[in-house]
Formats: sequence, C-alpha cells, structure tokens
Amino acid sequence: MNIITASNYNTLSQIAAQKAADYIRGNPNSLVCFAAGDTPLGMFKELIAMQNRGEIDLSSIWYVGLDEWVGLGSNDVGSCVKVMTDNFYEPAGISKERIRLFDGLALDINRECREMENWIVFHGGIGLTLLGVGMNGHIGFNEPGTPEQEGCFTVELDNTTKIVSAKYFGKELPVSMGVTIGWKTLMKADRVVIMACGEKKASIMEAVIEGEVSLEIPGSLFRQHPNVVFLLDDGAATRLSVEL
Ligand code: F6R
Repeated sequence: MNIITASNYNTLSQIAAQKAADYIRGNPNSLVCFAAGDTPLGMFKELIAMQNRGEIDLSSIWYVGLDEWVGLGSNDVGSCVKVMTDNFYEPAGISKERIRLFDGLALDINRECREMENWIVFHGGIGLTLLGVGMNGHIGFNEPGTPEQEGCFTVELDNTTKIVSAKYFGKELPVSMGVTIGWKTLMKADRVVIMACGEKKASIMEAVIEGEVSLEIPGSLFRQHPNVVFLLDDGAATRLSVEL
C-alpha cells in the first residue's frame, strides 16, 4: 500500500493529476473512472491546464461515471453528471461519444446499470480510477455494509451521505437512493488513486488506512488492491500513525 501526503490541497491536486497523466500517456485508449464530489475538482483543473500546455491528450481516453443520485439529471445542480460536465468534460473538450455517465432520471434504472456494465466490459474494464472518500468511508455509493459489490447497482443512501449531500445542492434535497459502480468492479482496475483532503476526513482516513479491512468501511477494502495509492493532504493525514 502506497501512502502519499501533500502539504496542501493544491499540491495534492498536482500529484493526482500527474499520476493520472502518467497512466493516460502509457494507456492512451484506456477507460478512466473519475469520482465527482469536491475532492477531485483541483485535479480536473490541473489536467485541463496540462492539456492546454500540450503535455497530455485527454481526447483518446474513454470515460465512465462512478455514480449518481437517483432522481437527478444533467440540469440539476449537484448531480454528478453536471459536476463532471461543468468541471471536466466540457472544459477539457471531450467528445460525448467517449463518455458514459449514469442517468439518474432513467425510467429503467436496472437497465441503466446493465448498460454501464456493458460499457465497462466493452472497453476492457476500468484502467485507472480516481476516487474520493465519504465521511462514512464510502467509495462511490458503496455505502457501509452494502451487500452488493459487483457490477452496477442502486443503493439506499446512508444517513451520513444524505446529510452531507446538502453541500452539493445548496439545500437539503430528498435524495434517498444512489446508483454506483460496485467496489469489486473498481477493484479490478489496473490502478487506483484514492484522495482525501481536510481535517474533517482525518478520522475516517485513519479507519480506512489503519482500521480493520471491512465492508463497514468500504474505503478500507481498497488496501487489498495491488496498485493503490492513498493521496492525502496534511489535514486528512493528521491521525495516521504509520510512518510516512
Ligand atoms: C462522488 C463520489 C463520492 C465522493 C465522496 C467524497 O462521485 O463517488 O463517493 O467521492 O463522497 O466527496 P467529497 O469529495 O465531496 O468530499
């Protein structure tokens, strides 16, 4: 297990972008899965700046969304599709044919899950995934104790996730379900980067990195991945006792 700490969020974002760029340069036709949420926003800016400087080409990659709030679509503030489109896909100039994101408004959400699974299989599985960690240790919407793990599935959101969700919407929305790629499918990725920033994540990152490997803390399961990097800023690393 590889743990990297960065002195601040900007440095963390630069390191994450560098890791993504290294993978993309070496695997220019691979499938990449980025989490939405606040944590990767700085990394998206870095990747776009790198492309603008001619240091990387993001257009040859295939993309798959990690998760979505069921009931929210591309026009809804805070939906994963909107966050990703506004902060990455549009400014990076990625063509729509290269992107497959969950449609939280799909009438048949099970079919939506199957189509996402087919997209992943068709592109040879996920090459690189860059993930954030929820305040309850969730990865994507693999919530604590979620029994399903493989492929894509819908899930009743954990209470912590529902409360924290207000930060994306500017108000409390009655979201209760999520749809996500399961952790076992994510575990098959060639390379996994898990990011966390801020002191508010210190306790959960202690559990993820130093606690028991358990379905109750989905992030901890990724310690078993052969090619995982945990990338934390100083705040999120405050409670770690491992020597860094
Ligand atoms: C978002 C996602 C979530 C977030 C996690 C951390 O697509 O999959 O698991 O990565 O909740 O969110 P932030 O980065 O906002 O702290």
